[in-house]
Amino acid sequence: MEFLTLDDLDLANKRVLVRVDFNVPLTDDGEVANDKRIRAALPTIRTILERGAKQVVLCSHLGKPKGKVVDSLRMDPVAICLGNLLGIAVAKVHDCIAVDIPHDRIIMLENLRFHVEEKGNDDAFAAKLAAYGDVYVNDAFGTCHRAHASVDAVARLLPAAAGLLVQKELDVMGAALAVPEHPFVAIMGGVKVSDKIEVIRNLLGKVDRILIGGAMMYTFLRAQGKTTGRSLVEVDKLDLARELLADPKITIPVDTTVAADMEPEATAREVDVDSIGETDIGLDIGPKTMELYESIIADARTVVWNGPMGRFEWERFANGTRSVARAIAGSEAVSIIGGGDSAAAIEGMGFADDVTHVSTGGGASMSFLEGRVLPGIAALEESARRMKSC
Ligand code: 3PG
Repeated sequence: MEFLTLDDLDLANKRVLVRVDFNVPLTDDGEVANDKRIRAALPTIRTILERGAKQVVLCSHLGKPKGKVVDSLRMDPVAICLGNLLGIAVAKVHDCIAVDIPHDRIIMLENLRFHVEEKGNDDAFAAKLAAYGDVYVNDAFGTCHRAHASVDAVARLLPAAAGLLVQKELDVMGAALAVPEHPFVAIMGGVKVSDKIEVIRNLLGKVDRILIGGAMMYTFLRAQGKTTGRSLVEVDKLDLARELLADPKITIPVDTTVAADMEPEATAREVDVDSIGETDIGLDIGPKTMELYESIIADARTVVWNGPMGRFEWERFANGTRSVARAIAGSEAVSIIGGGDSAAAIEGMGFADDVTHVSTGGGASMSFLEGRVLPGIAALEESARRMKSC
């Protein structure tokens, strides 16, 4: 990918507009519940300051306010959290456009999505953002799959470069997909085959095995003609599942953990996939499958994991996800954890420090694994081409 990085920009005495992804979960009291995405942007912010920038103007969305001001989605708690992490005061301003920017070194603009123009990729809105900077840096990997004004249009208006987080995400995931060491094993979970089909199709051309788990396993089992009881099945995706099953790389569970009720405290029972009862609800992979998947992961040299193996938020049905997380952490493979639920699982289960990379992007890492061009990256590449031709 041909885009500029921080090393290509002269930052001395410049005002730097930085798009970050500070779309973080908040507690009921409105405080930052998980600061991972804020921490992930610190290297870029610190580097820009160290290179003598006059001012860093940060912009992000938070939640889905749908173009209206929603007080509970203001960026104030994020600015406080960032200030604490940096040890430098962060001046939060009351809007993201048409505000007088104070002289502080670090500024946090208000939630971009209080204005519909952000999602509309509006040029005039982007021009108002661009007015705050001499150069633009995109460090919002988690938002790079969105063609929004602060990600796309603004990169046409200023010299634009990728921040260190964007660079790292693309380097690690790009290398794993482009030049993987084999055996290369993908582990795919989650609820729907339809959500993962593009990732599975893209990975099938690159991997040696795809291990299937999560609720989508029941669509594969039904496609094989097995009884799946009251488990979630996408009946309109049975043909697709049959088509995928024709590829010997696709490996599906041999047993499953079921419950009689869809409840966290429901009694869990382990059954072979041929013995699921008419009223059973499948909620996790079973112990034989865990053993099988653990041994395949142990031999892998590259692992990509996207989607939990079961209803891991309920402890009784978290064993499959935990066994995969533990196996990945214990393996010597290059290991990439797609964002979203698998990132939450590996972090919550305490294995995040033992894997190569946990992506900060949910939808963005999915798009990347699908082999799509991310609009935010395309905009940076376009900016680099334009600057080269000047
Ligand atoms: C994310 O949380 O995946 C990113 O911040 C993108 O958020 P969005 O799905 O609301 O665009």
